[in-house]
Amino acid sequence: MPNNTRGKFIVFEGLDGSGKGTQISLLSKFLNEKGIIIYETAEPTQSATGGLIRDTLAGYQKRTAYELAALFLTDRIFHNTSANGIKHLLDSGVTVICDRYYYSSFAYQGIDTDLKWVMNMNLNCPEILKPDLCIFLDVPTEQCDERMGSRQSREIFENVDTLNKIRKRFFEVFDLLENSENISIINASRSIDDVNRDVVSSAMEILNKQ
Ligand code: TYD
Repeated sequence: MPNNTRGKFIVFEGLDGSGKGTQISLLSKFLNEKGIIIYETAEPTQSATGGLIRDTLAGYQKRTAYELAALFLTDRIFHNTSANGIKHLLDSGVTVICDRYYYSSFAYQGIDTDLKWVMNMNLNCPEILKPDLCIFLDVPTEQCDERMGSRQSREIFENVDTLNKIRKRFFEVFDLLENSENISIINASRSIDDVNRDVVSSAMEILNKQ
């Protein structure tokens, strides 16, 4: 039920195949059982712009990396400001868990564009909210590749060389954001239960703060 306390905004990040989906479900279940109202969401969204993005990721449509970065920005503004968007949910007291956010733009688009440009347009946009917590599930790229092995078709970023560059970028960006964002890096190459324990403890730290 909506209340007067603003909800918390938790973002999950990680390479493709890092286990975000599993860990998001487990955290949601845990928080629901504690009586915390959760809304799970993801980027790219289901908006028209999200559709353009997915066509590009699948390789059906060719776009420059700058064009793709701008599409992710547009989709993110929509995600924040639409009638049932992130801002509305947080204001209603709902805790929002989002699968990927601007850190993905920094790491994925940051390898092919001017990273500063991508960071500036996202971090300095008044309609893009800053998360209370970013949980980064860190898995060696070879392990991501193995986990993706069974998937039928791979998106444009889903190969080991590119994933290595993206992982490096994530860490560079986390260093740059060390003093301005709350980022929790979790070793996700361990068992699901061990990773879940660390995820829950990071999330509870911010949920216990008013
Ligand atoms: P998707 O298959 O929807 O989800 P996931 O891999 O997280 O389970 O893939 C989303 C892809 O979009 C993923 O390869 C990362 C990429 N992406 C960006 O390049 N920039 C962004 O800003 C976001 C949010 C995602």
